[in-house]
Amino acid sequence: KRRAGITAVGHYLPEHRLTNSDLEEMVETNDEWIRTRTGIRERRILKDEDKATAYMGAEAAKEALEERGIGAEEIDIIILATVTPDYLFPATACLVQDYIGADNAYGFDLSAACSGFLYALSNGANYIESGRAEKVLVIGSDKMSSIVDYSDRSTCILFGDGAGAVLLEASDDETGVIDYIHHTEGDTNGALCQPAGGSRKPASEHTVADRLHYIKQDGRAVFKKATVGMSDVVTEIMEANSLTADDVAWLVPHQANLRIIDATANRMGLDSDKVMVNIDRYGNTTAATIPLCLYDWKDKLNHGDNLILAAFGGGYTWGSIYLKW
Ligand code: ACO
Repeated sequence: KRRAGITAVGHYLPEHRLTNSDLEEMVETNDEWIRTRTGIRERRILKDEDKATAYMGAEAAKEALEERGIGAEEIDIIILATVTPDYLFPATACLVQDYIGADNAYGFDLSAACSGFLYALSNGANYIESGRAEKVLVIGSDKMSSIVDYSDRSTCILFGDGAGAVLLEASDDETGVIDYIHHTEGDTNGALCQPAGGSRKPASEHTVADRLHYIKQDGRAVFKKATVGMSDVVTEIMEANSLTADDVAWLVPHQANLRIIDATANRMGLDSDKVMVNIDRYGNTTAATIPLCLYDWKDKLNHGDNLILAAFGGGYTWGSIYLKW
């Protein structure tokens, strides 16, 4: 069977660090609360107002292409997962295509919040497996600071900016994306959304005055759903592929909250030294968390390692991918 393997990984993180002590100056919170409730110490923020999601995604993509030693004109498809597109349209993938000069590629955005990268990766893998594409760039990029309300202490502590990109190509040895399971549950009672700016509530002076262009989250409700969803879906994919904890080299979880990650690893019976965690340094970068983990750990991964990727996010959307590295 033709499988889709990851042949390069790139990333982009803005320079500016927003620490917990910086947040103490902005809202009523403290470092201890943030660390014990979320695991986060600092996040990166893209300060340059001329730059946004497409810029970060393009920088991550360029790094991946450089690692692989190929030119952007070889890319067939660009799939970009984000909830913070530069514009509602054109798609951010089109801007990335232009930034990197991928003249022979077509591209589109994929909206699945924190599960965006996983949905995009499985999508990209389908193009490779079917033989419809040879080289697909899958990018997760989010400028969360553009939709975070820095007067809301329950959300502003969570999010950061960043991007990650992977190159997918046909593998010749049965490594790559082996299986995926995705879920959606649209009945969320508004527990996690950006209420205005779309066609339901277009931007107006009222939506601005009511602060409806910012993320709204019922943290407690999302926390419960995420813990159950992530734990269930990793169990589902391990059972479907007859994997035990001993077979798994790494859990690559979406970085929303260290307690959700720990609960997922516990359910799998996995020791913490087999779990990728960088939430302390970057916070929740939404579509970028999983490729940023892959980037940070790529030198520790061995060919053939079994990775379980898992995410949960707004929608609700959640899923898991079994990837043989
Ligand atoms: N500093 C200090 N106190 C705070 C802060 C803060 N930054 N934020 C909230 N509190 C207070 C609350 O007001 C509350 O006080 P009260 O008991 O007097 O009302 C108390 O702390 C507890 O609040 P909870 O919301 O119950 O705190 P919880 O332990 O649930 O932690 C958190 C909140 C971290 C947001 C958690 O619920 C969480 O991580 N939720 C899931 C986030 C997630 O996974 N999102 C999905 C991905 S995001 C995406 O898809 C875009």
